[in-house]
Amino acid sequence: MEAGYREELLAALRLQLEWGVDEALEEAPVDRFAVRAAPPLPDAPPVLAAPAVKPAARPVLPLVPPPAAAAAALAAAAQDLAALKSAIAEADSPLRDTATNLVFSDGVAESGLMMIGEAPGADEDRLGRPFVGVSGQLLDRMLASIGLKRTENFYLTNILPWRPPGNRTPTDAEITLFLPFLMRHIELVRPRHLVLLGGVSAKALLRAKDGITRLRGRWHQVETPSGPLPALATLHPAYLLRTPMAKREAWSDLLLLRRTIDGDVAPR
Ligand code: URA
Repeated sequence: MEAGYREELLAALRLQLEWGVDEALEEAPVDRFAVRAAPPLPDAPPVLAAPAVKPAARPVLPLVPPPAAAAAALAAAAQDLAALKSAIAEADSPLRDTATNLVFSDGVAESGLMMIGEAPGADEDRLGRPFVGVSGQLLDRMLASIGLKRTENFYLTNILPWRPPGNRTPTDAEITLFLPFLMRHIELVRPRHLVLLGGVSAKALLRAKDGITRLRGRWHQVETPSGPLPALATLHPAYLLRTPMAKREAWSDLLLLRRTIDGDVAPR
């Protein structure tokens, strides 16, 4: 390769890095339905002539169920956390192609307290555990201030189990696809209290239109197949890193959480 041309290519790459590009994606979107309905392999017997068929009496159902329905069926079949993790790994999603590791959960499932964040970031993707980057470290410090430790008294997961490329916000379609898995996750863990970290988590689980600043600071109910569960909405630690002034509100939410866990106030 000519030296000048090489320099030009390197400069273009450097520019992309400066712009924050950190994933190599294909230029055109992949139609996954078309991929699944791919024609038979070349050595399959040739189809000689189409037999005459009577017009179908009933509508022809698609062979492949829509992704969200397939996800719901996979999730419902999982009888324990290990099976649920495998089911998530099997679910077809473009996010799976760009992420490095599935990020399922961390902490103590039996603790009675389940925290739900948004989606893994770069550190979580690399290590396969939720909240291990800077926002996770802040979360650990905040929870330590009310006497809670990840290795003892809480459990963590996210709305999405795979990192969205470039840490972009999850799309509605991605949330819809993975919500059945999260609901099954909650069913299997059966916590006494949920904490919804940030707007994406709060809106998805409370099916709310309001933003996190309106939802935070009080207990809501998340409807699950075995009954409603109390859920406290609060600010996401990544937001607190960008907006230190908001730590005051987060602290007040933490105190409410502590008092509720201790039974001093009812979760409503
Ligand atoms: N932000 C989240 O919402 N979840 C993580 O696991 C990490 C950062």
